[in-house]
Amino acid sequence: MDAHELKIEAARVALGEVRSGMTLGLGTGTTSVEFVKLLGAALRDRTLRDIRCTCTSNSTEELARSLGVPLFELAEIAPLDLAVDGADEIDARLRLIKGRGGALLREKIVEQQAKRFIVIADETKIVEKLGAGTLPIEVTPFAREVLERRFTELGFAPVMRMRDGAPRVTDEGNRILDVRVPGDRDIAEVVASIREHAGVVETGFFSNEATEAIIASANGVRRMTR
Ligand code: A5P
Repeated sequence: MDAHELKIEAARVALGEVRSGMTLGLGTGTTSVEFVKLLGAALRDRTLRDIRCTCTSNSTEELARSLGVPLFELAEIAPLDLAVDGADEIDARLRLIKGRGGALLREKIVEQQAKRFIVIADETKIVEKLGAGTLPIEVTPFAREVLERRFTELGFAPVMRMRDGAPRVTDEGNRILDVRVPGDRDIAEVVASIREHAGVVETGFFSNEATEAIIASANGVRRMTR
């Protein structure tokens, strides 16, 4: 199976956890897209009914709406029975790095409102130590430049996320600084020091939101639980 097929497989297994009548949080990213498509198909053929969903990004909302998935504001249906979303990095303690798709803030808000949060991913997302890649930090536009300087001084090598030649603007109107977690530092400690700065809205470190993960590999699907 190629990477795309593995994402579909993880999404298919996660759909097996959805029951009619549930409230769902829908994630963002290429793996979540597969879940939303499968959910749309299950609603169309009436395998699932009375599902109420809320989305973690405008792009997911657009897709879900185009597929006829019933959408609600988060506050209308929270607490959610289940959230399903991808991740960029997953460690053995089910801690995550998320947000390389730029939706970390709404993702964390929605996933903290869910009784269960299942991460769906292919095996390439499993890491021994979080911080193999960059850690996204969502910051206000007003603070962006000074925080970029400060994080550079602290050795986090921030890079402002760009899109089409302009700063990437998040769904909440903020900017994203992608930082490096120095190899000799623990991510929780780095995040704590980043969060001390006014203007930091949220980080892509999800320390305790995920309750389970469905990981697809060429050898089959395995589940992780907290
Ligand atoms: C979106 O902001 C991210 O948190 C995604 O959930 C994460 O990047 C995983 O995306 P893929 O499923 O595309 O790898």
